[in-house]
Amino acid sequence: MNQLTITQPDDWHLHVRDNDVMASVIGFTARQFGRAIIMPNLKTPVTTTAEALAYKDRILSALPENSSFQPLMTLYLTDNTPAEEIKKAKDSGFIHAVKLYPAGATTNADSGVTDLKKTEAALAAMEQHGLPLLVHGEVTHPSIDIFDREKVFIDQQLVPLIERHPNLRIVFEHITTTDAVQFVTESNNNIAATITPQHLLLNRNAMLVGGIHPHNYCLPVLKRETHREALLKAATSGNPKFFLGTDSAPHAKNDKESSCGCAGIFSAHAALEFYAIAFEQADALDKLEGFASFYGADFYGLPRNTQQLTLSKTRLEIPTEISFGNQTLVPFFAGETLQWALS
Ligand code: NCD
Ligand code: ZN
Repeated sequence: MNQLTITQPDDWHLHVRDNDVMASVIGFTARQFGRAIIMPNLKTPVTTTAEALAYKDRILSALPENSSFQPLMTLYLTDNTPAEEIKKAKDSGFIHAVKLYPAGATTNADSGVTDLKKTEAALAAMEQHGLPLLVHGEVTHPSIDIFDREKVFIDQQLVPLIERHPNLRIVFEHITTTDAVQFVTESNNNIAATITPQHLLLNRNAMLVGGIHPHNYCLPVLKRETHREALLKAATSGNPKFFLGTDSAPHAKNDKESSCGCAGIFSAHAALEFYAIAFEQADALDKLEGFASFYGADFYGLPRNTQQLTLSKTRLEIPTEISFGNQTLVPFFAGETLQWALS
């Protein structure tokens, strides 16, 4: 196959940051995707409808001219999110989900939830009003090995959460393990999952063999090959519970190439191309459109996009650096040549 035309996709998990650095990255997403679920983990997290509206306006102002890209906003759940704020968010019409970061789990998660029990009122309101919960599914207890944190989260947090709130719609974000694939597959239709390009294309060797590769470090961390294979199988299965969410998470080069490098991989510059490579490896390019363009919209109760776009078998050279405000970032597959490109 040398060309693939599909309905325009959406990105159901994206970090665009704010201000001048946002202006550097937003165009990459807007040229591929119709819409994206915008993560609320700014330095000062987006915890209210009013803050989300202001952030949405800043995103719209940063878009290239004539872009029809739509940011789908989210709220950052805290121990203190009131049920009234959930109702307000739902009524706003522009907030599409609420994000759960266990406190300390990842970048800008310090104000995250310390104990799910403290969020009962907010969760009940989300369940009642049909506002999905997006879950960063990792426990943070120092005694739990980082490679086990997703599985332990399922057992200790997610299973009881679903028992307490059977009608809560949940997206298990950026899943990385066979355990998560199995859990989502066996759950009812209120539970879905996003999968990133890095977890489909790489295993942990790409981070740790031949030296430490900070630009392949993200959270949840890359896992062993058997997990990657399970994710690729799920993504290409045609099961509508699994859909596209890049988790593109830009950080300045200096912050990643550091004695304590931060977590996050920037993939927005060639997101759909990365997925095409993964799907082609599984001989499943015919399943890309459902995963990228249909199932997420269906889960969120939004109309599918109507425009189309075409990927072609052509060489796409990935730059070694991209400007990021007054600094630079190192993009996913920096300096390499891909075999697919958006026409
Ligand atoms: C994300 C970021 O940088 O905001 N980092 C990451 O490694 N994925 C946060 C997140 O989604 O965990
Ligand atoms: Zn993320």
